[in-house]
This record gives sequence, structure tokens and C-alpha cells, in this order.
Amino acid sequence: MAKKQNEARANRSVSAQPRFHQRAREIQGYGTVNHALPLDLEEPVRVQITNELNQLLADTMTLRDLYKKCHWQVAGPTFYQLHLLYDKHYNEQNELVDAIAERIQLLGGVSLAMAADVAETTQIERPPRGREEVPVQLSRLIDAHQIIIQQSRPLARRAADLGDDGTNDLVVSDVIRTNEFQIWFLSEHLVDVPLVEAKERVTAATAS
Ligand SMILES: [Fe+2]
Repeated sequence: MAKKQNEARANRSVSAQPRFHQRAREIQGYGTVNHALPLDLEEPVRVQITNELNQLLADTMTLRDLYKKCHWQVAGPTFYQLHLLYDKHYNEQNELVDAIAERIQLLGGVSLAMAADVAETTQIERPPRGREEVPVQLSRLIDAHQIIIQQSRPLARRAADLGDDGTNDLVVSDVIRTNEFQIWFLSEHLVDVPLVEAKERVTAATAS
């Protein structure tokens, strides 16, 4: 059998024809870790951390995409500033997505990648396909940030306890700091202050 295969291989002529429509079995299954780089991190640690990072990745990809939905569908007098702000936050979340996914691969794991898998995994509530008012957009985004921050703090502590300082640094310095900052910028848009006439006006006599 092996001899026949070798003969077949030898007889195959060199060709400029591309080999299309190829499929083969996976070279690594999802949820496993392999190729232990000399990172001084045991396999059980890498399994646990890559699993948790994949949850964080699914939620970060969902938040990133929610920003693009809001960027496209926003309406009203604050259209321009929110259109720009949403896109800025989208780009920053996109950077986080890449950093988290590559950390998973670096630790020997397999990153989630496709939308269908992300949709099955994320903890963020699915929004309707249609357009929603600005306060609802902002509330959905803040709720999504909250889900990410809530899982990031214990994840960072666990990573540090298990000796995975690189993951701790990524989660604290990049994920938590970016999400905190973006929550601030969104939240200030939900403060109901007048735009033209002050509500709590004081007379000149009272003021002095
Ligand atoms: Fe755009």
C-alpha cells in the first residue's frame, strides 16, 4: 500500500494548476493546547487561561461589532459626534480582539474566530436587527462593557495567581483600562443636562 502511494506521488508531474476545494481534518481541536513554547507555564494553566480568554474574546468581538452597528444606525442631533465616537471605540476594541486572540494562540490554544461561534459563546444580549434610539444604544454598549469588566478583574487575578503575568498584564493594562475609559465617555452622554437654558438658574442677587 505504502509502495503504491510512493509510486503515485513520484508519478505526479509538476503542474501550474492550483489545487482548489481542498478539505482535511483539523490539525488542532478547539479547547486544546499544544506546542508548549518555553514559557514556563504548565499545560493545565494554559488550558484554563485560554478557555477564559476565549470567553473574553467572544464578548469583546461582540462589543466591537455592536459599536459598528451603532456607528451605522445612530440617528438624531448627536449623530455626528456619536458616529465618530462609536467608530473610535470600535477600532480600539478591534485592537483588543487581535491582542486577546494572539495571546490564546501564543499559549498554545485555539482562538474563536467566526461570527457563528462567537454568537454561541458571548454573554452579551443580542440586539434587534433594526435601529434603536441613542439612549438604548448607549445602554446596550455600557451593559456589554460591564460584562467584560466583570469577568476581566477575576481573570486578571487568577492569571497572576497561576503565574501567567503576561495575561494579567494584557487584561489589566489593555482590556480593563480601555473598557473603563470607554464606559466613561458613553456614560457622560446619559447625563440629562440642558443644552440651551440652565434649569437651576440663580439670580444675580442670590449669587452674590
Ligand atoms: Fe464608517
